[in-house]
Amino acid sequence: MSKKTKNIIICISGRGSNMAAIVKESQSGILKNFAKVQLVYSNNSEAAGLKFAKDQGLQTKCISSKGKKRAEYNQLMLDFFLKQEFDCIVLAGYMRILSNDFVKAFSGKIINIHPADTNEHKGLDAYNWAFENGLKETKITVHHVDEGVDTGTIIEQKKIDISSAKTLEEVEQIGLKVEHQFYSEVLLKLFNSNT
Ligand code: GAR
Repeated sequence: MSKKTKNIIICISGRGSNMAAIVKESQSGILKNFAKVQLVYSNNSEAAGLKFAKDQGLQTKCISSKGKKRAEYNQLMLDFFLKQEFDCIVLAGYMRILSNDFVKAFSGKIINIHPADTNEHKGLDAYNWAFENGLKETKITVHHVDEGVDTGTIIEQKKIDISSAKTLEEVEQIGLKVEHQFYSEVLLKLFNSNT
C-alpha cells in the first residue's frame, strides 16, 4: 500500500450509490493508491449498499439503530469506531445525526456529501427542496462534519444545472451523477494535501 493511501470507513443508510462510486474509484480509478475502503458501515441492516459491499468482498458492519434508544445506539456506534484504525470517515447517505461525543472523538476526520448548498438548505430532502422551489441550479457540497447538522466547514461545492429536469426523479438523476464523480475528486484533493 502506498504511503499516501488513506484507510477509509464509508457510512451508509440505504442505496449506497455514492459508496459504490468511491469503492470503484479506489479500486481502479482516481482514488487508486490514495484510498482504501477498509469497511462499509450501516445503521440499517436492510441497506441495499451493504449487500453490494459484501458482494464486492468488502468488510461490512451493521449496528442496527432500529428499535434502539438514541443514546444506546450512539454509544454502541462510538464503542465500535473507537476500536477501528482508520484515517477518515466518509459519510455517503448516512441518514443519522452523529452524536457530539462521536464528532469530538474523530474531530477533523469526518467528511459528508450534501446534495444542496449547506448555506441554503440543511438536513433531509435537499433535491426535493430544489425541485419544489423551482431552482434552475443547485449545488452539491462536500464538507467537514461538526456537531451541528450540515454546519461543518465547506471543503468544496459544485454547481449543477437542473433547469432541464421536469420531475424530482430527473433532478436526483442529474445530481447523483455529479455526486458520484465529485465526491471522489474532492477526497483525492483532500488526501493528497494531507500526506
Ligand atoms: C445522496 O444524494 C446524498 O448526497 C444524500 O443522500 C443520498 C444518498 O444516496 N445525503 C444527504 O441528504 C445527507 N444529508 P446514496 O445512498 O445512493 O449514496
